[in-house]
Amino acid sequence: MKDSSPKLSLRALEAHAGEHPDLLIRLKGISESLVAGDPSGALSTFIAFSRALRQHSSFEEESLLPVYAALGATPRTGHPEYFLDEHRKIEIELDAVGSDLKGLSPGSASPTEVVELVERLGRFRNLLDHHFRREDTILFPKLREALS
Ligand SMILES: [Fe+2]
Ligand SMILES: [Fe+2]
Repeated sequence: MKDSSPKLSLRALEAHAGEHPDLLIRLKGISESLVAGDPSGALSTFIAFSRALRQHSSFEEESLLPVYAALGATPRTGHPEYFLDEHRKIEIELDAVGSDLKGLSPGSASPTEVVELVERLGRFRNLLDHHFRREDTILFPKLREALS
């Protein structure tokens, strides 16, 4: 019978965990481009960020969370479904930020539009940071322990 259980190495886990700071820096770069009056640059940075974040979340859903769920005995705040719910919330906000960025007219975005979008990106950063911290302190340590 073919073994269909997910394969995960400690090395792959550590490489994955190292993506969190990079993703947060990329997200900050979107706001920096907006503040610098470069909506086109902000949109290109967002597109690359969005692709990287979706790949990051897919890897967790396909390769980490099934292993984590199989370990059982997760802490009350670390149920696998909670991480999946957070991914859905992040995706919804990611799409909304993307629509707002695409709606900005290059060269004619009003200061109010820019400020509102920068504020929205700040709230999105808090959401992502909170999610990453939960993975850094609950999900990854448990997987590290199981793989060591
Ligand atoms: Fe995640
Ligand atoms: Fe993550």
